[in-house]
Amino acid sequence: MKIAVTGANSSVGQNLLAQITTQDKITVVAGVRSDQAKASLPHSPRIETRIISYDDSAGLAKLFTSVDSVVHLAGILMENRQTSYASANVAATAAVVQAAKHSAVKHLVFISVIGADATADNAYFRSKGCAEKLVVESGISASIIRTPILLGRGTAGAKALLGAASQTKIKILDGGNYFMRPLDIDDLGVAILHCCESQSVGVTTHELAGPETISYRELVERTAKLLDREIKIAFMPIWLAKFGARISSILKGGGITPTVIDVITKDEVIQTNADTALGISLTSLQFTLEKITDKKQIS
Ligand SMILES: NC(=O)c1ccc[n+]([C@@H]2O[C@H](COP(=O)([O-])OP(=O)(O)OC[C@H]3O[C@@H](n4cnc5c(N)ncnc54)[C@H](OP(=O)(O)O)[C@@H]3O)[C@@H](O)[C@H]2O)c1
Repeated sequence: MKIAVTGANSSVGQNLLAQITTQDKITVVAGVRSDQAKASLPHSPRIETRIISYDDSAGLAKLFTSVDSVVHLAGILMENRQTSYASANVAATAAVVQAAKHSAVKHLVFISVIGADATADNAYFRSKGCAEKLVVESGISASIIRTPILLGRGTAGAKALLGAASQTKIKILDGGNYFMRPLDIDDLGVAILHCCESQSVGVTTHELAGPETISYRELVERTAKLLDREIKIAFMPIWLAKFGARISSILKGGGITPTVIDVITKDEVIQTNADTALGISLTSLQFTLEKITDKKQIS
């Protein structure tokens, strides 16, 4: 089986490639945007890396030549002066879909987010919803996987959590009183490979979340405990955080914005978990936390 991966240097991409290096029946063409990103990828005779541009649909089509599935991972939560939701989440997906059609790709796997909605008021959820719509309307058979916060090596979620849990005193948005369903990044890798292998017909949208619902406050406290630290969590009003974020994002040209704060503090709620449909035995949250705090060997 041959897979093309866009945004291969993303945390999901890095983890997926690491999984693939342990499986001898899969080869990958990994698409990244720079030499620096290329250098960050795992080395394996079964991983071929190419520099791509999402403005160059002919180049993308070349990347997709003779692959069985395309896994589209490029996408952002935080905008900056160089990158917007419109370019990274929507236009890049449009280019990938166009190139996949041109190369007669059989199956597309798109990683989206729980809450994606093309009509949402929130610009991030709207951009992911618009990207999903492009995939749904492409005519290519596809698996859309909506995920919650991802925890694992290199994920933004794990970095933020470890940063918070390493403090002795910290102010958290709304005191951390919002609920998440953290998903182990290794489980997402298994789900992606399952979709590539099974190549289901038509378009299926899966919501794949972790096994436990937990408040962010409790998540920080449990992580701090694993780090053998005592932590005092104080309350940061959301209105105040948004006020600060509005000013700092104007000055910096992106980063944490009120839009991002709304995404972070939205409860992650799903209808039906796709773990069984995607052939996954979910990793327990405790085990995931032990991995990110180095209490367990990360595979
Ligand atoms: N991490 C999570 O908790 C989470 C939750 C839900 C959904 N997801 C989705 O899962 C996918 C992977 O997430 P991740 O957290 O692993 O990503 P990540 O580590 O933040 O990496 C982002 C990727 O997007 C690329 N990118 C940035 N701006 C771009 C642009 N304008 N055009 C095309 N590509 C651009 C980056 O390339 P450069 O390095 O070249 O900038 C990089 O490959 C994303 O689609 C994300 O929305 C992630």
